[in-house]
Amino acid sequence: MRNIDENTITPAVLQRIAGTEDPRLKQIMTSLVRHLHDFAREVQLTEGEWKAGIDFLTETGQKCNATRQEFILLSDTLGVSMLTIALNHAKPAGATEATVFGPFHTQDAPRAESGADIAGGAPGLPMFVHACVRGLGGEPVANADVDVWQADEDGLYDVQRPELGDSRRARAVLRTDAQGCVRFRSVVPTAYPIPTDGPVGQMLVATGRHPWRPAHLHFMIRAAGYQTLITHLFKDPDPYLDSDVVFGVRSSLVGDYVEHPPGKAPDGSSIDTPFYTLAHTFVLPKTR
Ligand code: BEZ
Ligand code: FE
Repeated sequence: MRNIDENTITPAVLQRIAGTEDPRLKQIMTSLVRHLHDFAREVQLTEGEWKAGIDFLTETGQKCNATRQEFILLSDTLGVSMLTIALNHAKPAGATEATVFGPFHTQDAPRAESGADIAGGAPGLPMFVHACVRGLGGEPVANADVDVWQADEDGLYDVQRPELGDSRRARAVLRTDAQGCVRFRSVVPTAYPIPTDGPVGQMLVATGRHPWRPAHLHFMIRAAGYQTLITHLFKDPDPYLDSDVVFGVRSSLVGDYVEHPPGKAPDGSSIDTPFYTLAHTFVLPKTR
């Protein structure tokens, strides 16, 4: 095919990929090419703008390493991560909603016994969490793995503190008891900005956006026979609940964080600062 113009280029490319054997790949590639071409036509993309876009994506790739995934950050901040979650995790009524995974989970979180202090010295006001896992029918889910991770009072995860090396804190994996529950002590999470020292940070500035996430605890709950749940418990009040930079807030995920004056904590210890309690029940559908 010769003499292609701005309108015939799209069918020409689609014809070239018409032999794609995998039907799902063919559907995705066909739609991608159509949308990309329509986008370029709609904005009348200039060559300078096309080059700027290529440079941006190149820098995004170059910013990635073992602990930094700039492409996921880009997907998160453009709402693609939450869109994908919404498309794939439509939950039955009563089930806990899912939200973004984020880049700060690690595979090597320590296992903790119920009742443990998982803060490991992370700064922040003490917080006592009682989390239970149930099925849609209300049955307790025993032996579920409750993987929890969070930022500390400075808005930093352990992996963002080079001085900690490979040691882990404010994260743990606990196993639910016969009642489907775990208890742990940690610190109150704080709102924090996502990393802005890369192309995603430049994109946020250029588009007049702030980089903040409202305070939250992350949970990943896995149990045999049940769908894995990746979610957060947000803290209210928080100035960023309605403008989360990654669009992850759902009303049902605002947790019941209760502030208490100094005094006796739920574990019987005496606390000389204000402290928080948080109780929550997560509800998991069964696997199909
Ligand atoms: C997080 O909550 O850890 C997170 C999620 C998306 C982007 C950056 C951080
Ligand atoms: Fe987070």
